[in-house]
Amino acid sequence: MNNRNFPIHFWPLLFAGLLLAGCNASNDTAQSSSAAQEAIPVAAGESAKTGHEIVMYKSPTCGCCGNWAEHLRDAGFTVKEVKREDMDVIKAQYGVPEKLASCHTALVDGYIIEGHVPAADVERLLKERPNIAGLTAPGMPQNSPGMQNKGQKPEGYDVLAFDKNGNATVYSHY
Ligand code: CU
Ligand code: CU
Repeated sequence: MNNRNFPIHFWPLLFAGLLLAGCNASNDTAQSSSAAQEAIPVAAGESAKTGHEIVMYKSPTCGCCGNWAEHLRDAGFTVKEVKREDMDVIKAQYGVPEKLASCHTALVDGYIIEGHVPAADVERLLKERPNIAGLTAPGMPQNSPGMQNKGQKPEGYDVLAFDKNGNATVYSHY
């Protein structure tokens, strides 16, 4: 279990089935999401070199978090991984509403990226710079970068934009 160290009160957020479903999916470096929406074309195997640094807080035991970080690196981001046992504290600190929470919490250019958000959405966010707190893929969508096998397209879930009050709207639909 990748999230066994979450405090008790955090458990209700997370569907046990989702946790079991795919967080150990190995070696996801999916590039599929990079092709869909971004302005900068990315050739296969080539880094977009966005120059943006992401700081990602994750549980030490979370495998899918590391896979998501690889997905972002493949898209040209620099990702610094910070292991924390107290992810609930991190989420509270950055104002991630419980109902919108996922595994890792990442920060980039003042925005929060919660969970398995495709790199293409992060790139669009940093380009358009909307007045929101951040993006989230609540829970652990099975067919998302970091959860699915390398090369698969994100599928069957929504990425949400959320504001400081916890209001969420659909940002991308997969
Ligand atoms: Cu995860
Ligand atoms: Cu994660």
